[in-house]
Amino acid sequence: MPLKKIRPNVYDISSNDWNRKVFDQLIPLPNGTSYNSYIVKGSEKTALIDSVYLPMQNELLQKLDDAGYQVDYIVSNHAEQDHSGSINEILKKYPNAKVLTNPKCKEFLYELNLTSPDKIIEVKDREIISLGDKTLEFIFTPWVHWPDTMVTYLKEDKILFTGDFFGSHLATDNMFVKDEKETYCAAKRYYAEIMMPFRVQIRKNLAKIENLDAEIYAPSHGSKYQNPKFIFDAYSDWTSDNVKNEVVIPYISMYDSTTKMVEYLTKKLEDKEITVKSFDLSTADTGELAMALVDAATLILGTSMVVSSAHPKAIYAASLVNIIKPKIKYISAIGSYGWAAPLVPKMVEQIKSLIPSIKAEFIEPYFAKGHPKECDFISLDKMANEIIEKHKNLFYL
Ligand code: FEO
Repeated sequence: MPLKKIRPNVYDISSNDWNRKVFDQLIPLPNGTSYNSYIVKGSEKTALIDSVYLPMQNELLQKLDDAGYQVDYIVSNHAEQDHSGSINEILKKYPNAKVLTNPKCKEFLYELNLTSPDKIIEVKDREIISLGDKTLEFIFTPWVHWPDTMVTYLKEDKILFTGDFFGSHLATDNMFVKDEKETYCAAKRYYAEIMMPFRVQIRKNLAKIENLDAEIYAPSHGSKYQNPKFIFDAYSDWTSDNVKNEVVIPYISMYDSTTKMVEYLTKKLEDKEITVKSFDLSTADTGELAMALVDAATLILGTSMVVSSAHPKAIYAASLVNIIKPKIKYISAIGSYGWAAPLVPKMVEQIKSLIPSIKAEFIEPYFAKGHPKECDFISLDKMANEIIEKHKNLFYL
């Protein structure tokens, strides 16, 4: 099969994983994913940029055969196994090839992938390697999303190989972005689930690559960008400190009492033109929830009480929020309990203990006994008014 040409002597040899449904046994993949790998053929040396996930290895090896080039260098922008998994086999196929990467990635390639350190040449930040008529520059971009991450700039062709940076879990036959709206959603989901905990570090790395005159961003998942400004601007927005006039309510309800409270609070907030995104945790796609948290100012966790605890699905949601670290400003909880009124404060402490990395202001939570009654709705009015006032101050409404 002919190789997909990005620029003269630069080829896309990515593998689509159309049927993969979940990543890290955690992240739903509604659109599959791809593991992107590239060949850069210079007049003297040929470099392979990243490899693919081990189950797709044979496809990559076949494409390398089809290309008919001798691989001299394997650039490893990031050691996670979805990109490094085939490196050892490629080294067997091309015994004189060397891996080019940074010291941290070298360490991980051995620890995670058993890649022999003897096969690896360490590069420095901003180091340049010539392939003859093509030049690669390595730019360290740590914590996008691991400490080892770097990007590689192909100067003559103005292509920035970005690793996971700007990636999206999207299996597609389109080499370049065709539909910016579809790609925006996929990239935002990817950012929310994988990159958001490292928002501040990513901001620093955006500044580091901003002044490159790149015309193409080629990440290691999803489509490539012929309009890099589109995704650069989206990342600038997502990683900024700005939040939107939005409240996110993930909730779980055993007998609909918590659901009724969520619906009541939602209406009160929407009446004041606050956008509310609620997620029933019995069926919610956690990727959609994570995406909603990229911009939201406030998070309200809704839960039924189970014995003396928050519902396990609410505990899962709280743990996820703690891991992905959204930039929310306010957080609270609502819900319903049965017989254990004296244990409600303990449940509130349990919820707080699940989110130590969230620095948001905690608004007094409210839990109703059983079905919400008039007095409970009055308490929800109070909570709604407090949220409305805080949002007014935040957004100068
Ligand atoms: Fe796509 Fe962090 O690996």
